[in-house]
Amino acid sequence: MQGKRILIASDHAGYRMKEYLDSWLRGQGYVVIDVGPSDETPVDYPDKAYLVAQGLYDREADLGILICGTGIGMSIAVNKYNHIRGALVFTPEMAALARSHNNANVLILGGRTTSLETAVKCTETFLNTPFEGGGRHERRVLKTGRMNHDFEK
Ligand code: RB5
Repeated sequence: MQGKRILIASDHAGYRMKEYLDSWLRGQGYVVIDVGPSDETPVDYPDKAYLVAQGLYDREADLGILICGTGIGMSIAVNKYNHIRGALVFTPEMAALARSHNNANVLILGGRTTSLETAVKCTETFLNTPFEGGGRHERRVLKTGRMNHDFEK
């Protein structure tokens, strides 16, 4: 996975974890596109989710990582975009399944709910696990991608 491009962003609550993962990723040979923030000044998580979604749409990177306090706000925000499959992950097992079964393209972590050590393990697993593809998993991922319903009349 050397040279793989990773887009990463957080809000203020995820800043410390973002900085930690950024330097870990660079140390592993990944190309990191860090779209901020550059300090712990409060910032709204949807603005950062948008930047990662836009970057993936423009094919600036292969996969994305988003971090807020719990990961919940980032999950809700980034999954508004049709080309995004964002997975909020708490364990390496969830990270593996998010890739192999769900073909997730954005890893979402909680800076206030997950340790830095676990975050690194989740990131490493996420980036090194391929989508199983074919058969039932591909059918379910494609079906989910068509579920952009609006119930308002
Ligand atoms: C910020 O205080 C916090 O609400 C945010 O980081 C995130 O946890 C929201 O889901």
